[in-house]
Amino acid sequence: MHSHKLKPAWELSSDEIGPDDIRNLHRQLAELLEGMQGVLDEGASPIGLIPFLDRYIELTLQHFATEEALMLELAFPEYDSHKQMHDWSVEQVYQVDRIALIDNPDKAQELVDQLDDWLRAHVCADLDMAARVFNT
Ligand SMILES: [Fe+2]
Ligand SMILES: [Fe+2]
Repeated sequence: MHSHKLKPAWELSSDEIGPDDIRNLHRQLAELLEGMQGVLDEGASPIGLIPFLDRYIELTLQHFATEEALMLELAFPEYDSHKQMHDWSVEQVYQVDRIALIDNPDKAQELVDQLDDWLRAHVCADLDMAARVFNT
């Protein structure tokens, strides 16, 4: 079953998607998810998700590295816990069972939903962090 209580990450506005420096990276990740959802909505084989997933992992790693460098530069006190969250997310995407996806559209939809939930949570955490750093 596919239902979104919240709008998906790719429908977030500029202000909702993240602080200035990292907004574009979040946007790119959201667009990849939109592409993945598109594959599933067309009823195409979930195998079409794999190139998106590869790019998603690549961009996620790049994005976390950028964000972590920025946090260190700002001597942000929550660096350790935020980095832990990043590391956990990376572990999750590496654990995706690609073979299981191929014949199972439900599982593929579950993955897109999970990545979307995760991206929205991540964006919220980043926005919180930026608000604390820049408004004090
Ligand atoms: Fe981020
Ligand atoms: Fe982050």
